[in-house]
Amino acid sequence: MDLNSYLKDRQQRIDAALDRHLPAEDSLPERLHQAVRYSVFAGGKRLRPILMLAACEAVGGDTERVLPAACAIEMIHTYSLIHDDLPAMDDDDFRRGRPTCHKVYGDALAILAGDALLTEAFILLSGMAADTLQAEDACRRAMHIVARCAGSRGMVGGQVVDMESEGKEIDLPTLEYIHTHKTGALILASVQVGALLGGVDEAAYDALTRYAEAAGLAFQVADDILDIVGDQELLGKDVGSDEARGKATYPALLGLTGARQRARDLRDLALESLAEFGEAAEPLRQIAHYIVDRSF
Ligand code: IPE
Ligand code: IPE
Ligand code: MG
Ligand code: MG
Ligand code: MG
Repeated sequence: MDLNSYLKDRQQRIDAALDRHLPAEDSLPERLHQAVRYSVFAGGKRLRPILMLAACEAVGGDTERVLPAACAIEMIHTYSLIHDDLPAMDDDDFRRGRPTCHKVYGDALAILAGDALLTEAFILLSGMAADTLQAEDACRRAMHIVARCAGSRGMVGGQVVDMESEGKEIDLPTLEYIHTHKTGALILASVQVGALLGGVDEAAYDALTRYAEAAGLAFQVADDILDIVGDQELLGKDVGSDEARGKATYPALLGLTGARQRARDLRDLALESLAEFGEAAEPLRQIAHYIVDRSF
């Protein structure tokens, strides 16, 4: 398979679904919905919804059924970026190749655009239709997983410890806590929800969970590395801001070489978790490579 055309095809499906599900720009309050769409359609990689579809595919599920949940996870991710960039948090000016949401719409509207996206996600998740009792149970579990991974037990919790650790020397377990929570949690939720809605069995669910835990941490290690060696134009966001803010990162703790090795080890762990899967897990395998090798 050609990963680039796979990613492009999935991005197009997800973008079309996001466009269908989000309130129109001219629906009231217009300025709020403009801010929401400004950030959602600025051109993210859509990695989390793509992982959700790929996990569904890996267990032989119907990816069409997963699209609403895939949109929901991208909405929550975009909300986390809008808030992450606020002056009270990372105070960044560029995101997805554009000025950040608060730079264009102001802090208050950026906060509310994030709030709106988080809430909209649960409109989609709670509206998922199930035609069997088994599918109904999967929908309920999916909603629970997303809520848990997004909140203080997941992404929000990681963001708090990330901020509390600014300018401090922290140990590796604390750094791993930050990364597995602020970033790993939504990636884990993406894979678990895709698998559940695809009708996964217990053994495959555990294997996919191990895949997502390793790939999710690898993704943030790579993000830390790109903040140092990445190209601002390609990345579409500020570089060098971790060092400027004294952020706890893998390169800060292990050096660039150590961080790169850690990312590769995590990739290998993710790949090993897929050993029992056949051809249907090929997209997940290639995405594990992409996560570590990417330049944006
Ligand atoms: C950036 O995520 C924030 C992190 C959790 C590292 P992405 O690199 O997936 O950002 P987009 O969605 O492509 O803009
Ligand atoms: C972001 O981590 C994690 C979340 C947005 C939840 P970073 O602060 O490293 O992400 P970037 O580098 O700004 O995209
Ligand atoms: Mg941050
Ligand atoms: Mg940031
Ligand atoms: Mg970063």
